[in-house]
Amino acid sequence: MRPSSRFGRRALLAMIALMVAAAAAVADAYEEDRARMIQVIDAHARTATDALGRDYIDPRVLAVMGNLPRHEFVSDWFEGDAYDDRPLSIGHGQTISQPFIVALMTDMLEVGPDDVVLEVGTGSGYQAAVLARLVREVHSIEIIPALAESAKERLGRLGYANVHTYAGDGYYGLPDAGPFDAIVVTAAAHQVPPPLIQQLKPGGRMVIPVGSSFAIQHLMLVEKDADGRVRTRQTLPVRFVPLTRAS
Ligand SMILES: C[S@@+](CC[C@H](N)C(=O)[O-])C[C@H]1O[C@@H](n2cnc3c(N)ncnc32)[C@H](O)[C@@H]1O
Repeated sequence: MRPSSRFGRRALLAMIALMVAAAAAVADAYEEDRARMIQVIDAHARTATDALGRDYIDPRVLAVMGNLPRHEFVSDWFEGDAYDDRPLSIGHGQTISQPFIVALMTDMLEVGPDDVVLEVGTGSGYQAAVLARLVREVHSIEIIPALAESAKERLGRLGYANVHTYAGDGYYGLPDAGPFDAIVVTAAAHQVPPPLIQQLKPGGRMVIPVGSSFAIQHLMLVEKDADGRVRTRQTLPVRFVPLTRAS
């Protein structure tokens, strides 16, 4: 049964608040900002009903994001904006994604605690950190070496021992680390890269924005069934930086 229909939205938010508090809360100056961010994400999810066929984000995902210091993943310059529901620059022409989109993509992956996940597009490391608290292992690859290096340093400093970072072109995935229970691509591709479909386990799910940088992109859900058949579903229109290729 859906949480929204069973408890009502207020009860759901109260439950998330309790889970956040119980999960050894990060005591810092941004606790209220984080709680507000979760409320904004929850409100945004209600308007996504048509495209997604649902009107809520998994409470486990909201609990993780409500306890994760997003301000550690942006430069000092943007620290005060870290909990606004919008993307922010992380330098090199790249962005840390909008919190609602991070919540949505994480939710759509439907990950479990034993899962091994691939992320293409490490950026700041924030999406990898969210996933790291929900799964066994995250492998995250970034094409811009300086971003890969700073994300590795940041995730190490914050204690994310189950995130493995790589510098390189994620179009090809990470065949030596796969296959993966779930794959999330955080840059827009012209088509779903065939190597990523290959590296998805039977029963696995991939979430990827597809479309050109100059036209409407859509968040696609790619599902591989137990027999290896692949089904693709288009969900929300989105706007991502492009998936670039190593020259
Ligand atoms: C929207 S940002 C990612 C945000 C990131 N997930 C976070 O939490 O901060 C997209 C990232 O994808 C990276 N990227 C683009 N093409 C790539 C490729 N072929 N392989 C790996 N990373 C790529 C960009 O350099 C950029 O850092």
